[in-house]
Amino acid sequence: MNPAPPMEGNWESRRSWVKTQEIVDLYANYVMPTYSRTPLALAKGRGAIIWDCEGKKYLDFFPGWAVSGLGHCHPKVVKAIKKQVGILMHVSNNFLSGQQGELAQIIIKNSFDGKVFFANSGAEANEGAIKLARRYGNPTKRYEIITMEKSFHGRTMACITATGQDKVKIGFEPLLEGFKTIPFNDLAAVEAAITNKTVAVMLEPIQGEGGINVADRDYILGLRKLCDQKDLLLIFDEIQTGMGRTGE
Ligand SMILES: Cc1ncc(COP(=O)(O)O)c(C=O)c1O
Repeated sequence: MNPAPPMEGNWESRRSWVKTQEIVDLYANYVMPTYSRTPLALAKGRGAIIWDCEGKKYLDFFPGWAVSGLGHCHPKVVKAIKKQVGILMHVSNNFLSGQQGELAQIIIKNSFDGKVFFANSGAEANEGAIKLARRYGNPTKRYEIITMEKSFHGRTMACITATGQDKVKIGFEPLLEGFKTIPFNDLAAVEAAITNKTVAVMLEPIQGEGGINVADRDYILGLRKLCDQKDLLLIFDEIQTGMGRTGE
């Protein structure tokens, strides 16, 4: 067993629990069982290493579904967060924030032309994309969105409807109108699914939760062409693959 390095400040003294079992009990009594959770209570992380609350050390190959892509508690990230929370913690959407404007500029300069919509989660980003598609199709009465089998787009009502896996939908019916799910990586299936109500095609370029299914280059190029020809929006859900996580 490797003891965890000392926590900074009064991190430990503020908490009464120290054993995994105590935390398992807190969850059993007070947290809704919406996820199946491994009974491993994480207490501290540095780089690629995490410690549980008994001080056992692990090499983290998982980093929170790739969320912690920079590793745990990188000193530069910690320093930047500490500095900002001492200056101003929250700016409502009714006002401006220099940092938000600057971040949007950095994202656009490093991706492609357009504007950024800041969201709280992957599901909200996809909800935003779905709403944008509905808005785009509204004047021509188009609202259908074609999505792919084995996809995963999030846990809100619109996103479980868009998701091509029955297990996330069962028990939540009736789902939203206007989604059509077809096989992944099959351009002919997309062509066949388009109607005069179709407004968008939505997919993950590399499917994550459905297995690591990589879209062919020709399929993606074909989709781009088809969407341009038919005036459809092409929505890429890059919650798993974005921010350079594929290494490219
Ligand atoms: C491809 C994809 N889209 C959307 C989501 C939903 O993201 P969030 O959990 O941040 O709502 C996920 C989450 O794993 C995902 O893998």
